[in-house]
Amino acid sequence: MQYSQFGQKFKKQTGIGQLMHDLGDPPPGACMLGGGNPASILEVTEVWKEILSKQIESGSLKRILGSYESPAGIQELRECVASILSEESGTRISENQISITNGSQNAFYLLLNFFSGKFENDRNKKILFPILPEYIGYTDQTLEKDSFLSFQPIIQEIDSYSYKYFIDKEKFKTFSDWRKQAGCICVSRPTNPTGNVITDAELEFLITRAKEADIPLLVDNAYGYPFPGVVFEKSSFIHKPGMIQGFSLSKLGLPGVRTGFVLGDSETIELLHKANSVINLTSASPGQYIALELFRSGEWRRLCKNVILPYYQKKSEFARGVIRQNWSSNLDYRIHQSDGAFFLWVWVKNLKLTVSELYPILKEAGVIIVPGKTFFPGSDQSWSHREECFRLSFVKEEKEIEEGILRIGRVLEKFSK
Ligand SMILES: Cc1ncc(COP(=O)(O)O)c(C=O)c1O
Repeated sequence: MQYSQFGQKFKKQTGIGQLMHDLGDPPPGACMLGGGNPASILEVTEVWKEILSKQIESGSLKRILGSYESPAGIQELRECVASILSEESGTRISENQISITNGSQNAFYLLLNFFSGKFENDRNKKILFPILPEYIGYTDQTLEKDSFLSFQPIIQEIDSYSYKYFIDKEKFKTFSDWRKQAGCICVSRPTNPTGNVITDAELEFLITRAKEADIPLLVDNAYGYPFPGVVFEKSSFIHKPGMIQGFSLSKLGLPGVRTGFVLGDSETIELLHKANSVINLTSASPGQYIALELFRSGEWRRLCKNVILPYYQKKSEFARGVIRQNWSSNLDYRIHQSDGAFFLWVWVKNLKLTVSELYPILKEAGVIIVPGKTFFPGSDQSWSHREECFRLSFVKEEKEIEEGILRIGRVLEKFSK
C-alpha cells in the first residue's frame, strides 16, 4: 500500500506508541513501572459508581449515550469549568474561554499544530520547550518535521540523592533567535516525566517572554492544578492573558472517558471548536456528564485534596524510600525532586550501557520502565544525559513497586562501572 507522508509518519514506531504497546501487552510477571495509567483508588471509583448509578436511575442515559453534544462541549459544563478556573486563579474567566476536547492529548495535537509549521509568507515556526525533559506524547504530534526547539535545563544537585531542573534563563538571551523561530512556548506542569513543577517565578518568567515575543504560552496541567492537583510542593495556579492551558479528567482516574478542557483566548477556543467539529464532530459525552456532576457538587475538591493528592504523595515517598534503602552504594544515582505527578525520574551516572540498551535487559529481568531518550524533543543528540535517565511510575501497588525497584537495582549494579 502506498501512503502519503502523513500516513508514513505513523508507520514507524513512535515513543508514545511503544509505551502504549507495552502498557496494553505486558510481559507475563513483569513489574509495570512504565505506564501512565492513574491508580485505581477505591474511594475515587466509588464516586464514579455513584454518579453513573444516579444517571441510570434518573433516565438521563438516553441523552448521554444517544445524542451528539455541541462541538464546543456542554454549555453548562463550560460555565462550571470557567467558574472553577476563575476561583482557583483569582482572575475572571468566561465560558467563551473554555473548550471541551476528547482528552488533552487531542487538544495538544490541535494546539501544537495551530502554533507550529508553515505561517504566512512561508515562514516556518517551531514549538519551544523552555526546559527539557518534556512529555513524550508531544514528540510525534506535529504535521511538519523538525518542529521543536528546546533548551537544556540548569541541573541543581540538592543533596547526594536528589537534584532539580531549572529553566536556564540565560538561554533566552544568548539564543535570541528563538523569538523568530518559535510559534509558541510549551511546558507541562508538573512535568511528565520528571515530576518537576516549574516554580511560580519560572512560570511568570515564561509568561513575560511569551508576551514579549507575541506568542502563546501553552501550559499542560494534566497532573496539576486544579484537578487532579497532584502537586506536593508549594506553588500556585496562575492564569494570565497570552496563556493557553490544558486540563484533563484522565489523571483523576477517568482516562477511559477521554475528556479534556482548554482555557485560552476566545479566538483560539473558537478555532478549537471548529477543528473539533471537522475531526471528531463533537467530543464524547459520558465524561462531560460525569464532570458536570462532579464539578457542580464540589465533590472534586474533596477528592483531589483529601484522597488523590495524599495517595500519590505517600507512593512517591515509598518508592524513594525503597530505592534509598536497597540500591547499592556503588551506584552513582540521583532522583529528581518529586514535586508532583506519578513518576520518579532517575539519573544514573556510571553505567557501562545506555539506558536504551538496558531497556530490553530490564524487560527480560521482569520490569518495565521508560528510557529517558524519548523525552528530549529537539535536543542536542550528543547530550549524554538523555541516555542516563529513566522514568519510573509509582502508581502500582506497593508490592509491585518494591519488587520492580529491586529488579532495577540488580540490573543497574551489574552494569555499573
Ligand atoms: C503531560 C501529559 N499531558 C497530556 C496527557 C494526555 O492525557 P489525556 O489525553 O488522557 O488527557 C498526558 C498523558 O499521560 C500527559 O502525561
